[in-house]
Amino acid sequence: MPDNLIQVILHGIAKPAVTDLGYMPAFKDSMSDGQVAELASFLRSQFAPGKPAWTDLAATVGRIRQTIAR
Ligand code: HEM
Repeated sequence: MPDNLIQVILHGIAKPAVTDLGYMPAFKDSMSDGQVAELASFLRSQFAPGKPAWTDLAATVGRIRQTIAR
């Protein structure tokens, strides 16, 4: 399941792990569950064309939306 991808899209990166990396903005306030699901689905087919598509993406986004950003 693409939990880590969905985490980073929703919550961004507020505290980069090392100082030479920048921040990534959070998209949780600008994208709906359906939009995040569509983006994840596109990325999966674009970059892992031989792998099975992810299923239940919008529900997974809804679940991860409830979790706290780290
Ligand atoms: C596993 C997936 C991803 C990881 C690990 C990741 C990681 C990062 C990191 C480390 C940065 C900081 C880059 C820097 O040092 O300047 C960044 C920036 C950014 N990311 Fe992501 N990202 C991911 C997916 C995405 C996706 C899917 C989007 C599109 C919605 C996105 C949009 C952005 C934007 C807009 C920035 C800021 C770029 C800038 O200000 O120059 N990222 N991301």
